[in-house]
Amino acid sequence: MMAKFVDNITKKFTKIILVDKAKVLGLDENVAKRLNFKGEYLSFAHLPQANVIYVGIHWELREKTCDPFAKVDYFELGAATWRQLEKYNIHDLSIANMSSVKLTSEDIGRFTLGLFQAHWNFDRYKKTEKKSELSIGITTASGSIFSKKEQSGVLKLHQAMILAREMIEETPQNLNPATISTIIKQNFKTTGSPVKIEIWDEKTLKQKGMNAVLTVGQASQHPPVMAHLSLLPRGKVKKRVCLVGKGITYDSGGLDVKTEGHMRSMKMDMAGAATMMAVAYAISQIGLDSVEVHWISAFAENMIAGDSYKADDIITTFSGQTVEVYNTDAEGRLTLADTLAYSTLLQPDYIIDAATLTGAAIAAVSPYYTAMMGNDDKLIEDLFATFLKEGELVVHTRLPEVLRQQVKGTISDLNNTSKLNRVAGHLTAGLFLSHFVDQRKFSNPSLKLTKKKAYSWVHLDIAGSAYNDGQNSLLTKGATGHAIRSIVSWLLSIDK
Ligand code: BES
Ligand code: ZN
Ligand code: ZN
Repeated sequence: MMAKFVDNITKKFTKIILVDKAKVLGLDENVAKRLNFKGEYLSFAHLPQANVIYVGIHWELREKTCDPFAKVDYFELGAATWRQLEKYNIHDLSIANMSSVKLTSEDIGRFTLGLFQAHWNFDRYKKTEKKSELSIGITTASGSIFSKKEQSGVLKLHQAMILAREMIEETPQNLNPATISTIIKQNFKTTGSPVKIEIWDEKTLKQKGMNAVLTVGQASQHPPVMAHLSLLPRGKVKKRVCLVGKGITYDSGGLDVKTEGHMRSMKMDMAGAATMMAVAYAISQIGLDSVEVHWISAFAENMIAGDSYKADDIITTFSGQTVEVYNTDAEGRLTLADTLAYSTLLQPDYIIDAATLTGAAIAAVSPYYTAMMGNDDKLIEDLFATFLKEGELVVHTRLPEVLRQQVKGTISDLNNTSKLNRVAGHLTAGLFLSHFVDQRKFSNPSLKLTKKKAYSWVHLDIAGSAYNDGQNSLLTKGATGHAIRSIVSWLLSIDK
């Protein structure tokens, strides 16, 4: 493990002291002045002789922000602190919970997770540069706590996020529909809770009529697969949740091929699947009392060959609804159409999907924020609040009914892109998906549906937030692990 908590704190450990106002804890006024350190949030002062780094957390000293939800965020602060430590080549640190700053164990948890996450980088293919190990010791003032159990909680989340980030970074020649089943099985080999893993191969997908998944993947040399993982709670089931993730292991665009510069990084187009798998992984380690969790993702490669699917093709999806292909680069919503429809068969209380679905979401909410939308106000409100609590950036983009006609088909039930170009593509994509969580719209007689209804559903477009293309200086370039913490936290909040 590249990051760990230690008990044995020696002299060489650099002391991290969180400071609300500069005039505290022996920080000499003159020194503070010389270092121009006022304790402002996200500011730092390094005192090499004393082997101390002061970390400012005072919010009001900060320039005014325009985001009404912005606040002191200990995960962000932890990540920013690592970016300082890295400069000074410091790898052993102790965090002192000083009495003048009241840190809760949740604050310390987020701070250390931020440190661990910022320290991590994907170096599987680096042959020369060696990884450094990060050790954190916690010295607590009397009365304050950060127990072994809390440390282990942080490490579980850390491992889950690293799992997702490693999968997202893994090259498409090594992570694809042919290799994914081994990767999944390996990671769930040892868990605390009962896990059931089903992997459907091409033949089974054909039998089940998962035609949208099959169509998107038909030009790849690796036929698509679908993974369904079930986690049972310790006690009686009170709630059932389906987590669905887009799993395009490479998105070349297909025949509507991506142009110069837009194809690179498209190994990350399975980030939604990796995010949900990581949530399932964390939950399998933590264990829930009363919530049954399912993770469902189809894995396919959107490639080009003589048998590529084409704009003008019409697909009969698993739900029975027909979709005319307008653009082969809008492939994610096709695989999601089948996986979302399948998830409704489990009659869940909630469906949440995560997908690197549209460039439009990045344009609309910036590459930092997740665009959240769905069909259930209460679920959106709760999940949104959890994102804020965890300090993960999110915007609620409401789904305007007036746009629904844009995805309605002329010679089919639906089209896979909007008829109007350049109109809020993340929203028309969301409206398209909404047809596949609403069984009242289904028309596949072999599903034998009774009591058809629209299932509670939230869609997270993580096209920007899942991958840092260098604009976010806190985390290393690449996969971010975004949304995992919030979804885990939300699951814990409904486990009562
Ligand atoms: N995987 C892409 C979306 C994407 C773009 C993710 C950039 C991350 C960064 C998706 O499959 C796609 O190509 N969407 C198209 C849809 C369009 C053809 C309607 C897009 O957003 O341009
Ligand atoms: Zn695409
Ligand atoms: Zn895609």
